Amino acid sequence: MTEQDFIPSSYAHTLTQGTVSFQSPSNIALVKYWGKYGEQLPKNASISFTLSACHTKTSLHFEPKTSDGFEFQVFLDGNREAGFEPKIQKFFERIETYIPFLKDYSFRIETSNSFPHSSGIASSASGMSALAMCLMQMERQMTPMEDAFFKKKASFLARLGSGSASRSIEGPLVVWGTHQAIEGSSNLFGVPYAYEVHANFRDYQDVILLVDKGEKQVSSTVGHNLMHSHPFAVQRFQQANNQLEALMPVLKSGDLDAFIEIVEAEALSLHAMMMTSTPNYILMKPNTLQIIERIRNFRLQTGSKVCFTLDAGANVHVLFPKSEKDQVLQFITSELVSFCKNGEYIADQTGLGAIHVSENQ
Ligand code: DP6
Repeated sequence: MTEQDFIPSSYAHTLTQGTVSFQSPSNIALVKYWGKYGEQLPKNASISFTLSACHTKTSLHFEPKTSDGFEFQVFLDGNREAGFEPKIQKFFERIETYIPFLKDYSFRIETSNSFPHSSGIASSASGMSALAMCLMQMERQMTPMEDAFFKKKASFLARLGSGSASRSIEGPLVVWGTHQAIEGSSNLFGVPYAYEVHANFRDYQDVILLVDKGEKQVSSTVGHNLMHSHPFAVQRFQQANNQLEALMPVLKSGDLDAFIEIVEAEALSLHAMMMTSTPNYILMKPNTLQIIERIRNFRLQTGSKVCFTLDAGANVHVLFPKSEKDQVLQFITSELVSFCKNGEYIADQTGLGAIHVSENQ
């Protein structure tokens, strides 16, 4: 498919005023997207677990208007959040070709996150995917479409808001970025991972340890741009694509040792990129390292298959199979929680993606 396939030719109906609402989750990459080009296109393919407890709920109220330009206001937990509006403005500009009715309506975007806004958990993946789903729901009311196309285009739009958001529409595993080993994969949108996955990965657990809350030291767009002139860029993009390919037999066989090796290497490679870019950033905190060391020791001592991954920040995602839930939660509360800001963490697990919620909830 190409961008052209997402440009609608005409609509069968127009809408009067109304509301559409979607809840969409965050996701955690196993093979990381870090480096982009053109209009939100990834330099390598990535794969993530879709989460479920960490989500954004967005209601999009719309009413017809005749004035020029985009008209919208954003509310977070019921309060106007003008700080979010430049990002939405940019998003609307990027998607207008594909959603030509955008200027025909005045929008009120009401959004709330299941996780604290200052937690350092990126709300862009859940937020942009929820908004993309709302816009697609409007489009679906104007013209009939297949469910598969609906999801593909929602992912395509979400990507234009935030790259990783393209991986939050479906679940539990989604690939974004063209990869020769994954049929149907595309730089334009995420696709559900359609190959065999071992039962070991069912309801995989992710406990997010909030090591450092608050504003990001480096925005992801700035971070991605550091890859343009990065001395290791070519090798990194190749490494990511290789790791994704290496992960496929691991997902099939359920080999958790091999899984750990790939996932932890990816997390550290991502941070290595930031440590070796110009300017460079150290986004891990002392407590991030304390946690990593303890996870590795725990594994050695107990034979547990717990492992870690990281986003572009100090928080640690602790990943483990559901069968180890009691044991690992016990370990987390007794040994790791003391390294979290105010002892805060979020227990999550894999999920199936965005869901339509009743408009009056
Ligand atoms: C480190 O999707 O937040 O989480 O496309 O600029 O919005 P933009 O970036 P974003 O980058 C996420 C990077 C990452 C790795 C990943 O999720 O693959």
